[in-house]
Amino acid sequence: MSKPETSLMDRLTALCKRRGFIFQASEIYGGLNGFWDFGPLGVQLKNNLRDAWWHDMVDCPPLGPDGKPLSIVGIDTSIIQHPKTWIASGHVAGFADLMVDCRESKKRYRADHIKVYTVGYSTPKGVGAWSLGVLEGDDAELQVLKRAKKLVQKQGGGDVRIDSSKPDTLTDIWERHEDIYGPDAENPGTLTEPRAFNLMFHSYSGVFQNEDSKVYLRPETAQGIFLQYKNVLDSTRVKPPFGIAQVGKSFRNEVTPRNFIFRSREFEQMEMEFFCAPEDGMMWYEFWVGERLRWWEAQGVSKDNLFRHVIADADLSHYSKGTSDIEYRYPFTAPGFGELEGVAYRTDYDLKQHQEHSKTNLEYIDQENNRRYVPHVVEPASGLTRGVLVLLCEAYQYDESRASPEWLKLKPSLAPIKVGIFPLMNKDGMPEVAEKLYMDLRRTYTCQYDAKQSIGKRYARMDEAGTPFCITIDGDTLTNQTVTIRNRDTAQQEKVALDKVRAYLAERLSA
Ligand code: GAP
Repeated sequence: MSKPETSLMDRLTALCKRRGFIFQASEIYGGLNGFWDFGPLGVQLKNNLRDAWWHDMVDCPPLGPDGKPLSIVGIDTSIIQHPKTWIASGHVAGFADLMVDCRESKKRYRADHIKVYTVGYSTPKGVGAWSLGVLEGDDAELQVLKRAKKLVQKQGGGDVRIDSSKPDTLTDIWERHEDIYGPDAENPGTLTEPRAFNLMFHSYSGVFQNEDSKVYLRPETAQGIFLQYKNVLDSTRVKPPFGIAQVGKSFRNEVTPRNFIFRSREFEQMEMEFFCAPEDGMMWYEFWVGERLRWWEAQGVSKDNLFRHVIADADLSHYSKGTSDIEYRYPFTAPGFGELEGVAYRTDYDLKQHQEHSKTNLEYIDQENNRRYVPHVVEPASGLTRGVLVLLCEAYQYDESRASPEWLKLKPSLAPIKVGIFPLMNKDGMPEVAEKLYMDLRRTYTCQYDAKQSIGKRYARMDEAGTPFCITIDGDTLTNQTVTIRNRDTAQQEKVALDKVRAYLAERLSA
């Protein structure tokens, strides 16, 4: 298997556009940074991942440590909530990234994304060192050397070498800012002091547009769950331990949206808040970390590409007693990992904050034990759109020996199209049999009927879409009632009796 020149992310992004998985939003107007549209195959894949999560969280939740099914219900809350929600949650005061502007290039950067390298130089005029800032990434050292060579050229030529064994983060060495070159600047000292930039989008509700009518687009789905926790408790038969799950859009005005759909300004989350007795918080936290790792593996993500990153105590949010990020080895983080999902033991912080700000009692009355308490919460919070990226990265295969070297090895149950149905030729009664089979199978599976171009090209189109099975109606179908079924992963073909096709698919597509 030889690799082409372009990076895996570039090839994946191109495939996603070519086959209708993901398009840049507003592309015909030049695009809008940080926004993406899901095309016909992409929305199908996203919905399949969402449905798998909902099924395993709400319809058929896992068994708890005692072997009994957990109690988890679903909810769908508004994107816009009372503005006090975001004061209570801490988002108005603290949901911010530190950012810097460059006075020379007029560009804006997230301060923690700028890495500063010390680069020594020697020219006929003398020796010295520059502090060169670059955006973190795979090719950071390459970028630094390129810029250093340009600077040395300006001085009439000479040698350069990177002196730092590892780069500094801009904020850690801010006192030296007058000597630091911004990522796109030709002169040092052009970066402005890092300042907090709130990530919430805002709008106005109603006709009068002033501070009193200011509302926010939710930056997470979680808070809607906390606001309705009491109504759910009072209107259903759940009692702690129990969960409330929600899937929906969230919005963050990210300073540097990037890496395709990894960090965007509009995205979807799948979050579940699990309410439990205070003394059980740590136990449920460990339980959910294990469950969530297992779940991602069950979606076809290899164990080797998943990593539990336990957040060090010193780095925990003040209200958390434990947080683990479930990380994935993305092509742009490899050999390192980047976040896919966070599992946080948030104690009773959120409910207590809303209790205080809304003046509503949010205690649970535990009649069995004759006590009342504000439940503690464990939250597995994952990105649905980021999950789609993980599925695509994991599925992407490149194999020059195949008719279409690029193909997607998606888990069959998540694949956007399950079955391709083709008449080998558009004659001799083949299309009629193929259409009949298509009309039958489409009632159960997403199927695509394709009679155009050579059979090889039709297989290739389905491989790129990640379709696990293709059925060809050929001469044998007409003589002995068999079809040829091609397996996407092995590219092997086998003959199956026409009346056994349904059973064949049922067995393989439930996986
Ligand atoms: N309620 C907790 C919470 O929202 P988070 O770690 O900020 O926690 C949870 O977000 C998940 O949402 C992340 O692990 C990631 O998968 C996804 N996510 C967060 N910001 C995102 C963005 N800008 N673009 C895409 N996905 C994002």
